[in-house]
Amino acid sequence: MIKKAVLPVAGLGTRFLPASKATPKEMLPIIDKPLLQYAVEEAIEIGVEEIIFITSNEKHSIEKHFQENIDMANRLIKSGKKDYLEKLNPKVFSDIKFHYINQNNQNGLGDAVLHAKEIVGDDSFAVLLPDDLFISNISCLSQLIDTYKKTNSSVIAVNKIDKENIHKYGVINPGIKEHDAILIEDIIEKPKADEAPSDIAVCGRYIFTSLIFDHLEATNFDKSGEIQLTDAIKSLINNQKVHARLYDGEKFDCGSKKGFVHATIALALRDNSISKDISKIIKEII
Ligand code: UTP
Repeated sequence: MIKKAVLPVAGLGTRFLPASKATPKEMLPIIDKPLLQYAVEEAIEIGVEEIIFITSNEKHSIEKHFQENIDMANRLIKSGKKDYLEKLNPKVFSDIKFHYINQNNQNGLGDAVLHAKEIVGDDSFAVLLPDDLFISNISCLSQLIDTYKKTNSSVIAVNKIDKENIHKYGVINPGIKEHDAILIEDIIEKPKADEAPSDIAVCGRYIFTSLIFDHLEATNFDKSGEIQLTDAIKSLINNQKVHARLYDGEKFDCGSKKGFVHATIALALRDNSISKDISKIIKEII
């Protein structure tokens, strides 16, 4: 149904300097897996066949990570470590077509998504921001697909945010309930707390019809010199229904140090191979 996913990974990762100087922040691991791989696996799980990375010149390690490494596989076999082969070269990756498009100037998320226009064509497609890590029984993207099947419209994942943090997000003005989703009446990027139209904020998973590209092309740079995806969505709403699906599950904002460490602790406590030790260590520290 949705066969293409766009993953914007060209950002500067300023908040993670110096770690992000030579290593893309999206490649920083939560336990033993790069953040980016969690998002790629989420896309593959819903049946995506083409992954389009919007990347930058300095981020070669991303391309390397999703290529098969035959040399290391041979070395693992020789040293009797066959158990690691699936971790090194996951079978599911071999069926996926990975595209890499450079965004030479970091002109914002909207501009990054627009770079995928040619490859996406007329199909509806998913956008995943790998900074946001979603952990749930039914993945965030599966929840969006469920709504998309019923509405055939663009669908955005949203969650409730407390007042003191609402200014960091795109916030929706909710309309009527349709199926299991909310029809979006308006959307505002990073409003002041007392100007926010609701406590329902956009999180990093989207399904768009290809019409979003026309609206991205017509979107001007904002005050900070970026093309905002939120502004294009605001304009799309005037042409086509856009729904918001309230995400059911946990979300970690791994683009911030706090969220990154939170995700690391939460996942470590669920990893059978280390959970007991980590729990003991945390107790000792406290
Ligand atoms: P962020 O704003 O969280 O990432 O963008 P950033 O700009 O890398 O982070 P800081 O603020 O400097 O620390 C969310 C996602 O959009 C991508 C980022 O790579 C990240 O995955 N992005 C952002 C682009 O691909 N291009 C851009 O111009 C901006």
